[in-house]
Amino acid sequence: MPAGPYEDGAHELSSHVTDSAEEVHVGLTLDAVRPPSSEEILKVEDLTVEFPTEDGVVRAVRGVSYSLREREVLGIVGESGSGKSVSSLAVMGLLPKSARIRGRILFRGDDMLKMSPRKQRSLRGRKIAMVFQDPMTALNPVYTIGDQLAEAVLAHELMPRKTALARAKEMLDLVGIPQAEARLRSYPHEFSGGMRQRAMIAMAVINNPDIIIADEPTTALDVTVQAQILEKLLEVKDAVNAAIVLITHDLGVIAGMAHRVLVMYAGRPVELGETDPVFEEPRMPYTAGLLGSIPSLEGGGASRLRPIKGTPPSLINLPSGCPFSPRCPLATEVCRTEEPPLAETDSGAHYAACHHWDRLAAAEDPTEFFRTESETVA
Ligand SMILES: Nc1ncnc2c1ncn2[C@@H]1O[C@H](COP(=O)(O)OP(=O)(O)O)[C@@H](O)[C@H]1O
Ligand code: SF4
Ligand SMILES: [Mg+2]
Repeated sequence: MPAGPYEDGAHELSSHVTDSAEEVHVGLTLDAVRPPSSEEILKVEDLTVEFPTEDGVVRAVRGVSYSLREREVLGIVGESGSGKSVSSLAVMGLLPKSARIRGRILFRGDDMLKMSPRKQRSLRGRKIAMVFQDPMTALNPVYTIGDQLAEAVLAHELMPRKTALARAKEMLDLVGIPQAEARLRSYPHEFSGGMRQRAMIAMAVINNPDIIIADEPTTALDVTVQAQILEKLLEVKDAVNAAIVLITHDLGVIAGMAHRVLVMYAGRPVELGETDPVFEEPRMPYTAGLLGSIPSLEGGGASRLRPIKGTPPSLINLPSGCPFSPRCPLATEVCRTEEPPLAETDSGAHYAACHHWDRLAAAEDPTEFFRTESETVA
């Protein structure tokens, strides 16, 4: 164990991870991992979640449907407050009691919302595991990493503690934590942010889950560490043969990481399709706006960054019609009165919720609608 202040020790180790050629598989992409099968393991059907509050009913999730195949990576993207976390917490059964949940959440065909609490518990944490944005809220500060990992195994399987600890070490090795044996005795605060997130991933996969739900797993980390953690997530997914739901507010994180992408706005899916077509030919102006706000995709660096003007609507008092209409440069009268359903567009398996997706299809650069006045004049 390194001596000296915890922070320094943690950083020393985290840079060791960065420098180690064995640990960082540079350039691991989705193409290099095993492809999804055609078997559907999770199907969310018309999920709605409402929270009654003093100010009114918060309509956090308003009809989310998606499916996930074995080994598939599905990206869910949208601005903060669009219902990404609430819809996945519903799958994990982690919503507060006040939440009103409707719809179906099918795990291998079985509706989790109708299962006995016992059966639900046996699925959650074992078959479906979650990685949170902030590992400090999920890891207990007073127990060692080894104890917590062993506990996660013992909660679902009867075995000697020694065997559980051996499995814990194996998992720390898998997620690229050096000196895994010694690190079992560390406390969460002795780890750097990146190392803690690795430990969280180890905890998520220790029971060999079929599904890993990763909710903004790299948002709190710097860019280099983000890339390493995402790569590790892909590698680990392959090692345990799991599918991933990867939630992020950053469309840039999805590129090269997800087979398909679901874009959410104001509690609803507004675009769904294979990642490449959605990136190259978005059919919903909100997605086009998000794409125009990613500097790396613009090729012009940060100076071309073009955030979408305005803010998402209140989920207590939603505007009538399309909830994006107050911010949408393509909005017309029909947009302000009728909310468009998620419907098929011109290419197969590419869905969008927009009255005017054909106008995006006709545009040479779909992000052009979001150009600022100064850019248009120039
Ligand atoms: N327990 C709760 N009570 C009331 N409103 C909530 C609760 N949890 C989340 N919300 C609201 O639901 C909406 C969606 O939240 P969330 O799913 O966390 O968004 P995202 O993860 O996309 O940033 C937000 O407006 C949020 O304030
Ligand atoms: S329906 Fe209208 S307001 Fe909504 S995204 Fe499409 S064009 Fe814009
Ligand atoms: Mg969230």
